[in-house]
Formats: sequence, structure tokens, C-alpha cells
Amino acid sequence: MRQYQFASFGLDQLKITESEPPAPGPGEVAIDVRAFSLNYRDLLVVKGLYNPRLALPAVPVSDGAGVVASVGKGVTDVREGDRVMTQFVADWTDGPFEARHAGSTLGTPGPGLAAERVVLPERAVVPMPDGYDFAQASTFPIAALTAWSVLVTEGKIQEGQWALTLGTGGVSVFAVQLAKALGAKVIITSSSDDKLARAQSLGADHGINYNDNPRWDKAVLEITGGRGADVVVETAGIATMTTSMKATAAGGLIGVLGGVTGLSGEVQIAPLVMKRLRVVGVLVDSRAHFEELSAFLAEHSIEPVIDRKFRFDELPAALQHLESGGHFGKIVVEI
Ligand SMILES: NC(=O)c1ccc[n+]([C@@H]2O[C@H](COP(=O)([O-])OP(=O)(O)OC[C@H]3O[C@@H](n4cnc5c(N)ncnc54)[C@H](OP(=O)(O)O)[C@@H]3O)[C@@H](O)[C@H]2O)c1
Repeated sequence: MRQYQFASFGLDQLKITESEPPAPGPGEVAIDVRAFSLNYRDLLVVKGLYNPRLALPAVPVSDGAGVVASVGKGVTDVREGDRVMTQFVADWTDGPFEARHAGSTLGTPGPGLAAERVVLPERAVVPMPDGYDFAQASTFPIAALTAWSVLVTEGKIQEGQWALTLGTGGVSVFAVQLAKALGAKVIITSSSDDKLARAQSLGADHGINYNDNPRWDKAVLEITGGRGADVVVETAGIATMTTSMKATAAGGLIGVLGGVTGLSGEVQIAPLVMKRLRVVGVLVDSRAHFEELSAFLAEHSIEPVIDRKFRFDELPAALQHLESGGHFGKIVVEI
């Protein structure tokens, strides 16, 4: 079988290697990967910016969908031929997040999905919802579940409340679709008027160009009648954190995901204190919540927005496309 590996950091270090297909041990399942989607994290992992001390060589890519090829001894809930998606935080099945769960993420330190076959613990796969193909299903495990985690698990957003989501990448576009299906009103920011128009065609109520309008918090307050957003999907990171806090309603929640603008720098805490904001770090979500999301997606016929599909041998180009920021929604690689 073919898989991508990198023995040192850098997109140009990604190489396709051939090896014997792995067989599942007790409690494990072997999956023939049919599609995987790219997340900003994958770029950071390959460039050595996510974990500079990562043990190499490693196989990249953190989510995917495929068919169960075989199962190991003791596997009870998964059968050969099942269509499944991966659970990114493999050991987080249910209940509160624990420190040990962080060490079980796929696409380092756990197995990467940029491979024709991968072996995972039984608990790290979730059945695909009916009505979706592999490319579509591969977009759910991280981007959709992270948006769900902020809006529903943490934010408990209610009908009629305001959601604010930043940029038009994978997580943010799902946040628009999910928030609308939950009955919320949505404001989205972007560097591009064209992308804002696309987001509005998906249901976003208002779009703000953050380049033309660097104080977009004021625009959010104006749109919401001075209230601010009840739940904020903070995708952008340190450069936007203070403005996000200023754009949030008193008692509102900001789900902090990391950030394309960086992880450290200066933040003003006055709006945090004066508005009693709740700021929550989010690392995707549990398998139990993934199952809830999966049912919700099917029930509301939410169609993931796939910006572009690439072939397996085009992974480096697909990552460059992600890096360029020109995309809207998800980038998928099909095998
Ligand atoms: N902690 C978690 O569980 C978790 C899970 C998933 C993702 N994340 C993180 O969340 C972030 C988004 O992930 P993704 O996969 O959706 O990324 P992505 O698809 O690469 O999207 C990135 C988008 O960020 C937007 N952006 C860049 N600078 C911005 C700024 N100053 N203000 C607002 N938006 C800005 C751009 O949108 P425009 O082109 O429209 O301007 C760009 O398309 C990444 O940092 C990722 O690592 C964390």
C-alpha cells in the first residue's frame, strides 16, 4: 500500500512510500481510506510548527473516511464493509476531556490518514451518516465537530441568539451552516467580499470584511443592536482575540481554537472581566458528540462545502492550496 511520510519537516519532504498493509490487532480495525480532508493543523504538523519534537518519520493528516477492510479479535461494534469516519481525539469516547486524551490525536502522535490503509482502535471510528459520500464524510471529523463543539457543546446556542465566526475556512463555513440549522443568527468575517457573498448564500445573515473594517467588533455591536455575539467561533487566534472579546455579548462564550494568526502575543483582558465573558479552549470533541453531530447533519441535510478535490499523489499541492488561504470551506484528497 501507499502512504505519505515525512522524515524531516517541510512540505517538500512529503514522500509517497510503499509498505505492507497493516493488519488489525485485538480491539483494532483496518480501514481502506477513501478520502481525507485537510485541516490547518496538517500544515503546521508537516512544517514542524505544531510539535518541533515530533518523532519522525511520521504519516500526516488528521481525519478521513473509508471502508472497514477487516477487524481484530474482540471487536464487537464494527464489521467488515462498514463505512466509517475517524474520531480525531481517538481516546475521548465520552464524558469530560482528560489530559491523557490529548496524546491520542490522529495525524500525530496517532496514525495519520494520508495512507491507503490505516489501523485504528475500534473506539476511533464512527459510522458515516446515510446520504453522504466518502469525500463529504471526510470533512466532518474535525472541522464540523469543532464548530459543533463551540456552538453546541460549549456555547449551548439558542434559537434567535447571535453566532459570530471568523474567516471562511473549513471550521467557519461549517459554523455558518450549523448555527443556521440550530436557528441562530450568524455574522461572519472574511478578507474577501466574494467569500462573504458565498457565506451569505449559505445562510449567514451578515458579512464583515475584516480588511476594510479592522474594528469589526463595532460592526458586530451595531448589527446586534449593541448586544454583541452570544457565541464566537474564534478561528483566527492572537491577532483577533481582543477584537473578538469586544464583539462578544455580556456573559457570552468564545471558543478558542488556536489560530492562523499565531498563538502568543498581547491580549487585553478588560472586556473579558467587564463583560464576564467565558473563554473556552476547544480541542475538537468527544466521540459521543460526534455521533450526535452526525445525526444532526443527516437530519438537516447539511451539505459540506468542498472547495476543491485533489488526487492522492497531489497532497503537497493540496496543502499549498490550504496555505494560500484562497479556499472557501474544505479541501479534500480522494484515494
Ligand atoms: N482546537 C481545535 O480543536 C481546532 C480544530 C480545527 C481547527 N482549529 C484551528 O482553527 C483555525 C481554522 O482552522 P481551519 O481548518 O478552518 O482553517 P482554514 O480552512 O485554513 O481557514 C483559515 C481561514 O482563516 C481566515 N483568516 C486568516 N486570517 C484571519 C483573520 N485575521 N481574521 C479572520 N479570519 C482570518 C481566512 O479566511 P478568509 O480567507 O475568509 O479571510 C482563512 O481562509 C486554525 O488555526 C486551526 O488550527 C482548531
